[in-house]
Amino acid sequence: MIKKVGIVGFGQMGAGIAQVAAQAGYQVMANEISEELVQKGIKGITKQLDKAIEKGKLDAAGKEKVLGNIKGTTDYSDLADCDLVIEAATENMQIKKEIFTELDKICKPGAILATNTSSLPVGDLAAVTKRRDKFLGLHFFNPVPVMKLVEVVSTLDTSEATFNDAWAFAQGVGKSPVKAKDRPGFIVNVLLIPYLLDAIRQYQNGLASREDIDSGMMHGCGHPMGPLTLTDFIGLDTTLYIADIMFEEFKDSHYAAPPLLRRMVKAGYLGKKSGRGFFEYNK
Ligand code: 3HC
Repeated sequence: MIKKVGIVGFGQMGAGIAQVAAQAGYQVMANEISEELVQKGIKGITKQLDKAIEKGKLDAAGKEKVLGNIKGTTDYSDLADCDLVIEAATENMQIKKEIFTELDKICKPGAILATNTSSLPVGDLAAVTKRRDKFLGLHFFNPVPVMKLVEVVSTLDTSEATFNDAWAFAQGVGKSPVKAKDRPGFIVNVLLIPYLLDAIRQYQNGLASREDIDSGMMHGCGHPMGPLTLTDFIGLDTTLYIADIMFEEFKDSHYAAPPLLRRMVKAGYLGKKSGRGFFEYNK
């Protein structure tokens, strides 16, 4: 049974996962590479909780309870007694492999290891551990406190017990899990990324203004964000990265990144996080 959850990588996704787990009553140990990044993660969660207080959805005691469930660390050995450790570090195969090699040595034998990767093969990460049966993907969506979905990704080696425990955890943090196969893009990105690439391609080819493309999908189809704003929100670099991995795997033009996206990433227009993407933002 999962009671204590470790998070490796306390950035936007890691902090979101830590927050929903702590709100659901799990003990959370969040790991980052520096104390500064640990504090940044805690500060971000505190800000979200303060907003919930302002809206009357949480009281001061509730906030303290959630924060009391989260501890930060820069030392992997503090994750030794976690029942589940979720990695939400940079989307880089080598970095993730190094993390899981360490976690496999440190974490107790029964612990489940999970990756929040959106595009890398989960089985390749499991292969660096000696617990392939206790390894799977748990792909959350951004912003984690709002989006209800978690893709639960079994590899060829994931045991049924591991899958069931992870599924129950996803439900325990208030999410609606779906079962996905270990192939690039899982379910959502296989559908979402070609849509975003098409919108960029149409903008590049002069179909309409950026505002009208977004307005079309928001007001014509009821999407909460238009595709160009959503690409800014996800990150142009992340979108390109996922598209390239899927193109490499499937060799299908659906996943071919339009030249405009590649040019913008090269120029440092990464979306909301860099202050400029298809739209401009205050950093
Ligand atoms: N963290 C926590 N809560 C947040 C938040 C954040 N970063 N951003 C917004 N919220 C909350 C707000 O507090 C508000 O809560 P309330 O209903 O309790 O008041 C609620 O979300 C709505 O927010 P706003 O009123 O400020 O703004 P919007 O109505 O425009 O909603 C949005 C913002 C939820 C981000 C909405 O625009 C949306 O759903 N956009 C689409 C997001 C999406 O598609 N995400 C998936 C990306 S793909 C992905 O993650 C996979 C990866 O692999 C690429």
